Parts: sequence; structure tokens; C-alpha cells
Amino acid sequence: MLNAKVHELLNSQINKEFYSAYLYLEFSNYFKAKGLDGFANWYMVQAQEERDHAILFYQYLQNNNAAVTLEAIDKPASDFEDGMAVLKAGLAHENYVTSLINDICAAAHEVKDFRTLQFLDWFVKEQGEEETNANDLISKMELFGSDPKSLYMLNQELGTRVYAAPTLVL
Ligand code: FEO
Repeated sequence: MLNAKVHELLNSQINKEFYSAYLYLEFSNYFKAKGLDGFANWYMVQAQEERDHAILFYQYLQNNNAAVTLEAIDKPASDFEDGMAVLKAGLAHENYVTSLINDICAAAHEVKDFRTLQFLDWFVKEQGEEETNANDLISKMELFGSDPKSLYMLNQELGTRVYAAPTLVL
């Protein structure tokens, strides 16, 4: 049986991950409206990954006979000054999600819940990748974003990202 605090944090993470999907859908929507379909594709794939993350937390609770309580998903921010502001909001969000995952790890560690720690290990690694990806996007935008031809090439590159199901199987 899951510890009450660990249970609550895991359940809350379902909502946070669905919010992440919603936020990235909004980012995709922003870039689509600007005619940058490659950026829009990149964030659409990101949104699909976030939905997967939410489902993994959902399934983990169900697999442990722990009740799932779905909460309302907040409206994502949508008024961005420019593309760079969107990218920076993405990095800030991933930093926040990392802190949430760390909080759940800390709570599980405190009560010696090694099964949950093992489950969370995938997310700890995933957050490292998420932050790296967000940082890389910012670096590329800084290098190429102000030149239309380079921005076109970057947009083409981001358009090649394809969705792949998560490697974590419960
Ligand atoms: Fe599910 Fe981007 O963290």
C-alpha cells in the first residue's frame, strides 16, 4: 500500500503531466499560427510524450491498487512576446517538472518505498533529456533565429521529429 503523501504526489503528477501536454499544444498552436510548421511539429510530438507521462503515472497508481483522482487542467499561458519567449517558457517548465519529480523521489525515499523509486528512475533520466532538449532549442534559436534562411533550415530540422512511444513499460 502506498504511503498517503507519495500517493497524493503521484496522483498530482498525472495532472501536471497533462498540463504539460496542454502547454506544449499551445506552443505548437503558437508556431503553427506563425507559419513555422517544423516548430509546431516539434511541440506536438512533445505534447504526445507528456500525455504518455500522465498515463504512466495513472497506470502506476492503478497497478498498485491506489485510487486515481483526476483534477481540472489549468489554462496554459498563451501570450508570448516572440518565439524565443516560448522556448524559454518551455525550459522553465521542464525545470519545474524536474523539481516535482525530485519531490516525489524524496517522499518515496523517506518511507523506503523502493518500488516507487524504481518507477521514478525513468522519469529522473527523462527530465535530464527534457532539460537538455529545451536548452538545445534555445541555443539553436540564439544562433540561427535572427536570420530568415537559417530559421527556415532550423524549422525544417524540427519538422523531422517523430513521435515514439515511451521506453518505460509497466
Ligand atoms: Fe513529462 Fe516534460 O516532463
